[in-house]
Amino acid sequence: MKKVILPKKILAIETSCDETAAAVLEFSVVNKLPQTKTLSSIVKSQIKLHSKMGGVVPEVAARAHVKNILPVVQKALSSAHCSLSDIDYIAVTQGPGLISSLIVGVEFAKALSLATHKPIIPVNHMLGHLYSPLINQLENQSISKLFPMIALIVSGGHTMLVVMEDIFNYKVIGQTVDDAAGEAFDKVAKMLKLPYPGGPEVAKLAEQGNSANLNFPRPMIASKNYNFSFSGLKTAVLYCLKEHTGDDKVWQLKRNNESINLPTKSFKADVCANFEAAVCDTLISKTMRAIEEFKARSVSLSGGVSANEALRQNLAINCDQYGVKLLAAPLNLTGDNAEMIGLAAAFMLTKGYKPKSYKTIKADSNLEL
Ligand code: KG4
Ligand code: ZN
Repeated sequence: MKKVILPKKILAIETSCDETAAAVLEFSVVNKLPQTKTLSSIVKSQIKLHSKMGGVVPEVAARAHVKNILPVVQKALSSAHCSLSDIDYIAVTQGPGLISSLIVGVEFAKALSLATHKPIIPVNHMLGHLYSPLINQLENQSISKLFPMIALIVSGGHTMLVVMEDIFNYKVIGQTVDDAAGEAFDKVAKMLKLPYPGGPEVAKLAEQGNSANLNFPRPMIASKNYNFSFSGLKTAVLYCLKEHTGDDKVWQLKRNNESINLPTKSFKADVCANFEAAVCDTLISKTMRAIEEFKARSVSLSGGVSANEALRQNLAINCDQYGVKLLAAPLNLTGDNAEMIGLAAAFMLTKGYKPKSYKTIKADSNLEL
């Protein structure tokens, strides 16, 4: 007989970087697995605010969270057709992230908890990314057949490989030793004077370029561990830009001992194409090696950079060749959002997490998975 725990409602809050987000999810536990239904998910992006500065300014981000958090939470509640009294749990991102941004969400959630006596669940932001590709698998009767699973999480702040032995047990096997993949995308975009946020801009220009015209390094691709490093690749792009000269219109290059002139846009497109290929090759090669070592039956892909079409397509081709299923996060859950925080809270509660008093909860910018 199915053991069912009746639906509960989670209000989730996310403010780890430059998105103020809130969501309401209904969740129940069926056969020891969470079943969730998203009733609302609101994301207020700060892109316009930070694009003037070419990147996130922590204090500006925190001030914007302070301004946005109440209207965003109110909108999440009203879109879900409920009020605070209908909520059973308050989930909030505790870390990792920018400390001044995290504090706004955590202290807001604590104040709500104090005022309403609702229990609070501090959630690791990376757990949200980890579980986001599973959102459409929870009613899958054969979900256990997807494990062991290798999770590749690629965001602006993190690049991680995680082995999931089953739905509740996971272990980080590799991470970046310097820049995260998204950070490298953003920095390369800045070098090419592309608008912020750089990842989607680099990806757009890469479509028009020819990757074969350049050959950036594939960092740590041959190393035996599962760690990543993208800072050298970023520096290789910087040197490539310095080695040749050009202006906004024409770029002078040396190719096969010949001097050629290229329209600047074509040169930048080639840089983007080869840079993107170098990031994809590195991420995919380590993921494939992890599949072999851990005899994985599926791969999950999540985080802001997982919106990258080249990465999604190439990883899908490789997973096909290895005979493993690829679960990519839905596009609306790749970037930061509160829905994935509510989802992670549902997993934590199903696993047996006991909510703590708001008094014991503190934002932690270096929280580890
Ligand atoms: O997960 P996320 O929203 O925030 C963090 O937790 O860091 O990831 C944001 C990152 C940024 O670096 C952004 O440039 C990158 O994801 N990104 C992309 C694409 N869309 C977003 N990178 C490459 N290609 C994309 N299409
Ligand atoms: Zn994130």
